[in-house]
Amino acid sequence: MHNPEQQRFLQDVIDGLSKPQPEIPSKYMYDELGSALFEAICVTPEYYITRCDIEIHQRHADDISRFLGTHVHLIEFGSGAGIKTRLLLQSLVQPQAYTPIEISAAALQAAADVLRFQFPNLLIQPLQADYTQPINLDALEICPRCKRRVVYFPGSTIGNFTHAQARNFLQRIRDICAAAREGVHAGLLIGFDLLKSPEIMLPAYADEAGVTAAFNKNLLARVNRELGADFDLSQWRHEARFNADEQRMESYLVSAAAQTMTLAGRHFKFAAGGDIHTENSHKYTLESFQAMAAEAGLKLQQTWTDQKGWFVTAYFELK
Ligand code: AVJ
Repeated sequence: MHNPEQQRFLQDVIDGLSKPQPEIPSKYMYDELGSALFEAICVTPEYYITRCDIEIHQRHADDISRFLGTHVHLIEFGSGAGIKTRLLLQSLVQPQAYTPIEISAAALQAAADVLRFQFPNLLIQPLQADYTQPINLDALEICPRCKRRVVYFPGSTIGNFTHAQARNFLQRIRDICAAAREGVHAGLLIGFDLLKSPEIMLPAYADEAGVTAAFNKNLLARVNRELGADFDLSQWRHEARFNADEQRMESYLVSAAAQTMTLAGRHFKFAAGGDIHTENSHKYTLESFQAMAAEAGLKLQQTWTDQKGWFVTAYFELK
């Protein structure tokens, strides 16, 4: 295994499975199959998040675009060929430039290609990078005519981060905003999911059709495919739990029997009912998110929500 990314993946899996509470980082869920399964989750009746987020982009398009102003340079964390990015770009007045930041070159290229087709006047400059790491600020200086730099992070992806990680992440976004040229305004447009009844959240993370289960189990399948492990997929089942203390949904894979998995010459034993923690999806109140952003130096300017009041898109600027 020569590829440094694969080496990192192997090390992360070994380290994670060696912990007292075994875990595998959720960022590895998104290989090609995992990304397709996530798209399928988004159209299950139980997973309300994407529908709420899209509804906000539609209902409040004019207001959001008024807030962001004209001549925007949109910097998306993630590759957004998706519906939300299109809705936002379409409602903005004379958007000038778009920089998707994404680790997968293929996803980046595909997103840039389709957006170029739909928005021929937009300067599209993809940046291949892991956005959980510091970003090269010079790479963002691409647009002399831009009047505002907007970092865009929809979908409540921030929910996957612990509070400490999320705060650091928001600090780095603050730095990206602060680095904007003289006279260029800067801000963050971000989506997060509101804390609500577990009766709504639990089914959203354990849909009836089993798409979320397949998405979760694909993580083990990927470890088998790419790292040569021998997880027996028939001996694991998906479980979603609400952790009230941490205010988050958690995903686990639970072992159906006592079993041993072998990876790179190491043996990992699991008891019947033993589990692997695979994902956190943190939920916020407006107040808790606002406080976290304030600690990172970002001040709330405006919020938009869906009709049910389940999801929030918020706009922040430098304090
Ligand atoms: C893509 C991180 C927003 O946490 O709600 C969906 C991923 N996991 N169902 C989320 C996910 C299980 C999703 N995010």
